[in-house]
Amino acid sequence: MNFSKELQQFHERLEEQNLGPLWASIHDLNTIEPKAKPIPYLWKRELIERNLEEAEHLLEVGNGLDRRALFLINPGMKDLKPVGWGGATQTLYAAVQAVRPGEVAPAHRHTTTAVRFVMKGQGAYGRVNGEKFAFEPGDYLITPTWTWHDHTNLGNETVYWMDCLDSPFTMYLNVCFTEFYPEKQQKLLVPDDYSTKRYQGGMIRPISDREPSIAPLGRYKWDFTKKGIEGLSQFAPDPYDGFAMEYINPSNGKDANDRIGARMQMLPPKFSGKAHRHVHSNVYHVYKGSGYTIMNGVRFDWSEGDFFALPAWTWHEHVNVSAADEAWLFSTNDLPIMEAFGFERVEAYEENGGYQPIKEIFQPLI
Ligand SMILES: [Fe+2]
Ligand SMILES: [Fe+2]
Repeated sequence: MNFSKELQQFHERLEEQNLGPLWASIHDLNTIEPKAKPIPYLWKRELIERNLEEAEHLLEVGNGLDRRALFLINPGMKDLKPVGWGGATQTLYAAVQAVRPGEVAPAHRHTTTAVRFVMKGQGAYGRVNGEKFAFEPGDYLITPTWTWHDHTNLGNETVYWMDCLDSPFTMYLNVCFTEFYPEKQQKLLVPDDYSTKRYQGGMIRPISDREPSIAPLGRYKWDFTKKGIEGLSQFAPDPYDGFAMEYINPSNGKDANDRIGARMQMLPPKFSGKAHRHVHSNVYHVYKGSGYTIMNGVRFDWSEGDFFALPAWTWHEHVNVSAADEAWLFSTNDLPIMEAFGFERVEAYEENGGYQPIKEIFQPLI
């Protein structure tokens, strides 16, 4: 809309007085559809590993240094202070953490909630809420809001895992509290692998958990996840996501972590998913295999160890390029938040048979 010179000068005077003219701002505030600040983006494994190795040489974890983790900053979020709100998407922080043999990442707790996916390496252990878990590749672990957590590596190789927190969301709401445990590691309150053993039968529940609780199961073993997907893969794949499973809280059937959703999906050889978009955003980690995802017409090629961010309301489709190998994608999402506030919407891409034309190929930093 074109405003007269007189009106433009009036707008400037209003701004100086900390007032805003709604008639000139209404379409910025009430957008026709979401305009994501973060952009579709991909981080290569080589880039993350090289920088983490440098950090391993420069930093010792444990004495005054809490965590050795590199977080993904979405270029679209960079101008938000501080540190781009740690946003890979509008609501999700994602990082890769490296713990060297003998190190202890000290115990703390925060109101931001966290989940972890073990990428590689053997010998790490975590303590969450008084319970000790072994971290093995493919395992998914949760650290719900305000639960004490510390990690150590008792093996002889560096262990790497993905951390995902809802930090940008808690930054926006201004609700983050953090507290440090008086000792390096928290006291154990239950036997080792307590919750894993209580749920080792799978879809049966201890009678004491009939009343829902926030985190009756702390760790989801890779073998179970894999087995679940193998069962699912005996039938037709989902047209958008192949064979996908989400991690749930066995006491209430909702997401395992109440503010961050997480999924594992397998794209069979030559799978070519259809495009759709949704309000919830995702951060993907390529656990195994290679392929590409088209986001808003741009092709993002990925292979094992890469990460990519899918912002809100972005068209996307996943493709496994291999004729022989499966592709396995782990992902986190903010669907629990979107659903809690009634914001979630999904739309299928109808043109071109449901597949986006590729306009451009993304060139990642290496
Ligand atoms: Fe933490
Ligand atoms: Fe999707």
